[in-house]
Amino acid sequence: MSIITLKNVSKTYKGLTLFSNVDLNIDKGKIYGIVGPNGSGKSVLFKMICGFVFPDEGNIFVEGTEIGKRKRFPDNFGIIIDRPGYIPNKTGFQNLKELALIKGKISDERISEAMEIVGLQPNAKQKVKNYSLGMKQKLAIAQAFMEDQQVLILDEPFNALDAGSVDRIRRLLLSFKDEGRTILITSHNQEDIRVLCDNVYRINDTQLEVVTNF
Ligand SMILES: Nc1ncnc2c1ncn2[C@@H]1O[C@H](COP(=O)(O)OP(=O)(O)OP(=O)(O)O)[C@@H](O)[C@H]1O
Ligand SMILES: [Mg+2]
Repeated sequence: MSIITLKNVSKTYKGLTLFSNVDLNIDKGKIYGIVGPNGSGKSVLFKMICGFVFPDEGNIFVEGTEIGKRKRFPDNFGIIIDRPGYIPNKTGFQNLKELALIKGKISDERISEAMEIVGLQPNAKQKVKNYSLGMKQKLAIAQAFMEDQQVLILDEPFNALDAGSVDRIRRLLLSFKDEGRTILITSHNQEDIRVLCDNVYRINDTQLEVVTNF
């Protein structure tokens, strides 16, 4: 069953065509890798799927509903794209709490648990402005799954993580897959793609090519 569908999607920025009549079907419960060089359109693809930018042509459906038409954004997505805008003078916990208040779905305990899972200390007094790059990245990962989001759109989630943390987050993502969650991921590290992905697509010459050996 396809949870995300792209039909005939085209996108051009100022004469630079990134995608030309692209189709894509994402099935529930699998991990998909999107690869391609810098500037090939991976982040733009993810932004289109999340409803942050629109295709010039074509349609994107999430669970049968077209994004940008009846519904602006998909529900229940956990998203890491670009650096999240944290509130610098609040702690990591306080930042996640602000985000959790939008939906009002989860308890303080769940926020703490999500922080511990990624290797952050929920009771730490340290403000986010003093976080290291890797700590900010961990906070972004916690934010993406803490509300049990069933589709995770993760653009370079391993950036700035140390080796032990990479290992921990890889195992976490595989456990999400076992729970039936769907994950789209980009990484410039071939090993991430090899360990995690069921299906891989490479952006090449405005098309999404299936990669068979990864
Ligand atoms: N809002 C925008 N306006 C104009 N051009 C844009 C915009 N967003 C992206 N682009 C261009 O689209 C191209 C693809 O960008 P994108 O960020 O998707 O690449 P990427 O594959 O994610 O690269 P990287 O591996 O460096 O993250 C780039 O040339 C970029 O400059
Ligand atoms: Mg990118």
